[in-house]
Amino acid sequence: MNIVANWSYPTAIKMGRGRIKELAEACKTLGIKKPLLITDRGLASMQITQAALDVLEAAGLGRAIFADVDPNPNEINLEAGVKAFKDGGHDGVVAFGGGSGLDLGKCVAFMAGQTRPVWDFEDIGDWWTRANVDGIAPIVAVPTTAGTGSEVGRASVITNSKTHVKKIIFHPKFLPGVVICDPELTMGMPKVITAGTGMDAFAHCLEAYSSPFYHPMSQGIALEGMRLVKDFLPRAYKDGADIEARTNMMSAAAMGAVAFQKGLGAIHALSHPIGAVYNTHHGMTNAVVMPPVLRFNRSVIEKRIELAAAYLGISGGFDGFYDYVLSLRAELHVPDNLSAMGIKPDRIEELSAMAIEDPSAGGNPVKMTLENTIQLFKDCF
Ligand SMILES: [Fe+2]
Repeated sequence: MNIVANWSYPTAIKMGRGRIKELAEACKTLGIKKPLLITDRGLASMQITQAALDVLEAAGLGRAIFADVDPNPNEINLEAGVKAFKDGGHDGVVAFGGGSGLDLGKCVAFMAGQTRPVWDFEDIGDWWTRANVDGIAPIVAVPTTAGTGSEVGRASVITNSKTHVKKIIFHPKFLPGVVICDPELTMGMPKVITAGTGMDAFAHCLEAYSSPFYHPMSQGIALEGMRLVKDFLPRAYKDGADIEARTNMMSAAAMGAVAFQKGLGAIHALSHPIGAVYNTHHGMTNAVVMPPVLRFNRSVIEKRIELAAAYLGISGGFDGFYDYVLSLRAELHVPDNLSAMGIKPDRIEELSAMAIEDPSAGGNPVKMTLENTIQLFKDCF
């Protein structure tokens, strides 16, 4: 089964096997004549990246690449990227990779037109209106994993290299003008990354679905996103070359990111500080804390999860859904708890204080306080 589709929601998305061949055309659509491909160091020398550069070069767009990007991109990477963009006389960005390449690429395109420091554009109130819109360069996004959904997001996460705190930098123009979702680019992902990124997509859908805000569009997208993960993540994990499964996981990832405009919750509020302190994989950490967070929120989300379970073909209501999450985790070899992840329970108070300050905390169905978050962290060990 070969899935090919062109969507214009939430932006222009070209979905399907082999569509990386349309990269140069995508650049031209946005008026880009001299793109800078931005990705992380690990991906720079890989065949999929070189093949993408070949496509650009063959169309006369050059093969410029910037790959000085850390796994958690920071303002130092950002400054270097903006300098490479300006020094090279570029007029657009190809943001290429998993979360780090996509997030830094988007932010370089944005910052290329700004004079204020990046922290002035943190996702607080209307700070985004401080931006000089004219200077923002066009972006083509090419995801190589299926989880973050950053390819359809209007923000980037940039880590402050001094404080190690992750900041969300937001502007509507971060949304790439064209996205190429070519599932062949995800086929080389190691099993553990397929599992972790896939569970990140699932967490986005689950938390968006569970958050209390009124947003029926996101609600529907989140529900179908969960179904795609349920049907296709185990297949992609078992057989990395299962192109139908890989395609549907790319859809699920994009849907998760569209859905979480409705809000995230305690899974992400816990996962962010754990990742910042212990450098754990984001999606895998989400999967580890997911069952305790479901128990934590049960009193408020039970009815809603019953509806989701019915749609997903899971019997037994909330308990059935909870057991399904446990079995999915087992199938993907997710560690049982934070201890099994190699983390010691000696910094719970500090992590809890960070969690309740995390922007995701506000979307959790049960209000997170220092007291109940400390208890929740204890349950994660
Ligand atoms: Fe996430």
